[in-house]
Amino acid sequence: MKQVKVLMVCLGNICRSPTAEGVFTHVVNKAGLSDKIHIDSAGTHAYHVGEPPDERAQLHAKKRGIDLSQQRARRVNAEDFAVYDFILAMDHENLRNLQAMCPPDARHKVQLFLDFAPGRQESQVPDPYYGGAQGFEFVLDLVEEASQGLLSHIQNKLM
Ligand code: 4NP
Repeated sequence: MKQVKVLMVCLGNICRSPTAEGVFTHVVNKAGLSDKIHIDSAGTHAYHVGEPPDERAQLHAKKRGIDLSQQRARRVNAEDFAVYDFILAMDHENLRNLQAMCPPDARHKVQLFLDFAPGRQESQVPDPYYGGAQGFEFVLDLVEEASQGLLSHIQNKLM
């Protein structure tokens, strides 16, 4: 089986998508599938390119045993649409921005990450950047659930 490639996308690539990358990587490693699934994250904007994840995102992830410290922000680029199999937006604005950049033959790759958390009312992972600790914990809750759903989807449909 060809390696499955997953790209997590938010606005700045310093809060939500690095958290999604870290949590999904953890879930994939625990399932023993790290050589079968490649995971990265990126932002639709370049504000924070080269920076490590927001310290609050790192702190809250660490409390759940997930280390984000080695990640560095980058922007989504044209090649990503050819390379990745799943390009997963954290919110509707990220989705619209991705769809606007995406070549027609890759449209099927772009969707909301929370499509994989069907038990949740939320369809978006809310931006925690201007809020408090609770927002970062909520991001982790949503992302953990969607990560389990995404892993099940890949195992059931692609393996
Ligand atoms: P993220 O959060 O998209 O989850 O990484 C944000 C990070 C930075 C900004 C906004 C959201 N910003 O405006 O700089």
